[in-house]
Amino acid sequence: MNLHDLKQIALITDIPIMSDDTIEAISKEITLHHCFSVLEIGTAIGFSSLSLAHKHENLSITTLEKDEDRYEEAIKYKSLLDQRNQIKMICTDAFEYSPHQMYDCIIIDGAKASNQRFFQRFFPFLKPSGCMLIDNIDFHGARDEDIQHRSRQFKKMIHKISEFESWIKQHAYVNVEKLDVGDGLLKITHKPHDTHFYGKIVQ
Ligand SMILES: C[S@@+](CC[C@H](N)C(=O)[O-])C[C@H]1O[C@@H](n2cnc3c(N)ncnc32)[C@H](O)[C@@H]1O
Repeated sequence: MNLHDLKQIALITDIPIMSDDTIEAISKEITLHHCFSVLEIGTAIGFSSLSLAHKHENLSITTLEKDEDRYEEAIKYKSLLDQRNQIKMICTDAFEYSPHQMYDCIIIDGAKASNQRFFQRFFPFLKPSGCMLIDNIDFHGARDEDIQHRSRQFKKMIHKISEFESWIKQHAYVNVEKLDVGDGLLKITHKPHDTHFYGKIVQ
């Protein structure tokens, strides 16, 4: 069993996972920001966390998953593929989890309509020099004009994703950059010397 096999399992069983270029871009940010600690929201079956751990042997990753079946599966693949024991997998709803430390990198890959709430809850736990990365910001290329035939729930989710993007771009205390990989990866960093967020959970 290797990462390629795990990717095939995700594809066959219809479990959403990050694209290869997204993993590559996150990996570059991990190097650029000299990251040792990562918090990921949205483990699914562990593909992204296992891939990043494989690329960075000194990285420790804590990853949260609320779906029990996916968590159990992820634990199974961790036992086969996390040979250096770099990953801590926790079965919890991220909104019920309070981190015990600050992180160099925080990856948000959970329910897409909740990006703003994830940002508010977890950005205070990002170290001053770290980066937060939010996947699928252009959700599969969907824009208002091409989703007219989709369900109300899908439209609402697309609307919420773009609402979050507009909101965060106007935020006074952070720098925002959109990386053109996968279906859009948003990179959020602290503005230098800003202490607005530290230690606060904003509900
Ligand atoms: C896109 S998948 C994650 C894919 C994974 N990062 C990868 O690339 O291998 C999103 C996952 O987030 C989980 N999720 C959604 N909302 C969550 C929450 N509030 N807390 C924890 N997990 C959540 C879902 O159950 C789902 O398995």
